[in-house]
Amino acid sequence: MIDALTALFRQSFGAAPELAARAPGRVNLIGEHTDYNDGFVLPCAISRQTMVAARRRDDRQVRIVAGDLGGATTAFSLAHPIEPSGDAPWSNYVRGVADGLIDAGLDLSGADLAIIGDMPQGAGLSSSAALENAAGLALAALAGEWGFDRTRLALIGQRAEHRFAGCQCGIMDQLVSARAVAGAALLIDCRSMKCTAVPLPDGLAVMIVHSGIERGLVDGEYNLRRQQCEAAARHFGVAALRDLSVLPEPGGLDPVAYARARHVVGENARTVAAAEALRAGDLARLGELMAQSHAAMRDDFAITLPPIDDLVALLQDTIGSHGGARMTGGGFGGAVVALLPAEEVERARAAVLAGYRTPAGRAPLIMVEAPAAGANLI
Ligand code: GLA
Repeated sequence: MIDALTALFRQSFGAAPELAARAPGRVNLIGEHTDYNDGFVLPCAISRQTMVAARRRDDRQVRIVAGDLGGATTAFSLAHPIEPSGDAPWSNYVRGVADGLIDAGLDLSGADLAIIGDMPQGAGLSSSAALENAAGLALAALAGEWGFDRTRLALIGQRAEHRFAGCQCGIMDQLVSARAVAGAALLIDCRSMKCTAVPLPDGLAVMIVHSGIERGLVDGEYNLRRQQCEAAARHFGVAALRDLSVLPEPGGLDPVAYARARHVVGENARTVAAAEALRAGDLARLGELMAQSHAAMRDDFAITLPPIDDLVALLQDTIGSHGGARMTGGGFGGAVVALLPAEEVERARAAVLAGYRTPAGRAPLIMVEAPAAGANLI
């Protein structure tokens, strides 16, 4: 990939890059829609990633070429307030990160940037967080900040989502992409941002099946869920739903907001329990917790879709008590994650290929992942 990136850079800008950065995508094992409720999540980084090569410019222009988009290009100036682009919305993550770095006090130079990656689109594996972190590390390094703090980096990526992409996301995707530990999932307390590595037991495989139903244009639903959770927290008089370990009686709260809160309160407890089960190598317990998580996403949070429920049921039937499966990510499409013994992967793959087709009638993309390390300069 690095060779393709260097070639793209040379071809586009007529010289070699000065430096490059990479950042991984992620898959969330459990803890969905808990991050913006100050709760717990348990994601790991994956080998699929985004890379950004960079070279300083003497003016204040940032020029970008995107290898995955057929070499699409765009440019913006650091001299003006940076605005989101309507023509090249894919570049808004980079624009937003540049804006955030300047806001954080970095003296950014102009830059030529080339981007490539191997993340499947619309799978909900956080290609945008990977781009934000890789671009952020590269731009910070050009400004002389070689060891840019990874939590700060993640917060700048999240700010770019809020201000440049219109998604009021939590911190999970950016933080795990920035701070992941190879071979481990990361238990993140999204209030303190404390990250604890939870090594995956030997022989446990992480299997991801892309439903082929692309996420996209769902920010409205996402932001609505967030508002409903915040309304529920206000109703119960707490700063965030994280502060409830037991769900109180509704006391007049609208039933939809109550159901959303039920998911979040349960999911926080399930996530902490799942980290324990993972540490103990208790795959049966892990499978139960994943099944409960999926059911709550379907019944209380209303973010799954019937074909995804079917795909999850198929995997759960195949895996039995040797692991588990659930939809992963923001919802309304995207991917399903399964945890299972490595020796059972081929059987599960065969079951998925026999029993599931994407909406276009194709075999789904199946990835078997080993948890990767977080973002770094190359
Ligand atoms: C998206 C958001 C995350 C998180 C998940 C749901 O991936 O970017 O912050 O809220 O959805 O768990």
